[in-house]
Amino acid sequence: MRAYTLKNKNIEVTFIERGGQIISIKVPDAKGNIADVVVGYDTMDETLAGDGYFGALCGRYANRIVGGKFEIDGEKFQLDCNNDTNHLHGGVEGFNSRNWTVTPVSLDKFVQAYKLSLTSADGEQKYPGKLEVSVIYGLTEDDQFVIEYEAETTKPTVINLTSHAYFNLCGAGHASAVNHKLQLNASRYTPICAKLGTASGEIVPVKGTPFDFTSAKTVKSACDTDHEQINMIQGIDHNFVIDNYNGSTQLVGTLLDPVSGRKMEVYTNQPGIQIYTGAHFDGSEKGKNGAPIEACAGIAMETQIFPNSPNYANFPNATLKPGEKYKHTCIYKFCK
Ligand code: BGC
Repeated sequence: MRAYTLKNKNIEVTFIERGGQIISIKVPDAKGNIADVVVGYDTMDETLAGDGYFGALCGRYANRIVGGKFEIDGEKFQLDCNNDTNHLHGGVEGFNSRNWTVTPVSLDKFVQAYKLSLTSADGEQKYPGKLEVSVIYGLTEDDQFVIEYEAETTKPTVINLTSHAYFNLCGAGHASAVNHKLQLNASRYTPICAKLGTASGEIVPVKGTPFDFTSAKTVKSACDTDHEQINMIQGIDHNFVIDNYNGSTQLVGTLLDPVSGRKMEVYTNQPGIQIYTGAHFDGSEKGKNGAPIEACAGIAMETQIFPNSPNYANFPNATLKPGEKYKHTCIYKFCK
């Protein structure tokens, strides 16, 4: 499996063809100490055999579609279900398990960039329309790792692409991310309704709940709160509704490790961000540094449309029609 590395004077991002999976991001702190800030494995063999969502590109529809069902213009579709009775992250063979075609590209705004592309056939995982997808991974001079997604379809379909890295700014495998401070420009979130984490369709204020990250606070303080939404999945696995969403790329959140001082800002043009604290990691698998991967080993910050959007009229529209272009930007900017 070929690995590709993007480098500027501070940061190094390495990814592979399978799933476009980001297998390491090496970032210095203010003293110049380098840490690899994404959860993963020490070897390629473990990476290929391990959790296929770590750092991967997810699609055609990242997150859950309840029952794998949706309708476009009255036509009903039934996707394959791979998460009990739901469709998760594009199904059994989502984009995370596909080999992407990788080519170096030269773009003025990036010190270095690669284009990853794939074709998703009409009917793949039972989605309608042949989809041409391209993703740019670019690194800027000022430590922004930029992901630019584009897609076009031959038939009306649904789309929600995301990147599934779990960040640990102490260095993956060295300490839990539970004491990271998280801030989100989101005064509302979408609650879940069952153990499987499916969105209920409501949009509610975060005020007075553990989901209020409008001012920075530790992830632990939210996860330790006795609240039915937290108890249901032993942590956070929720979509936050970005304030003042207008389709342009804006700062939506910040993650900070108070110990090293490493900080990551997240920018996107998407209406939502899924925060996942990795409740399903039970320590049975060893990751980087030989350390067991436990809950809160890292925090996923997945920019996206909302979960199950195709079935809720009050959620943003996830339909892509022929002649339209899906455009999604996500930036992870590292600061000291
Ligand atoms: C979801 C989790 C799911 C995980 C699988 C996350 O994006 O929010 O519910 O278990 O992906 O890796």
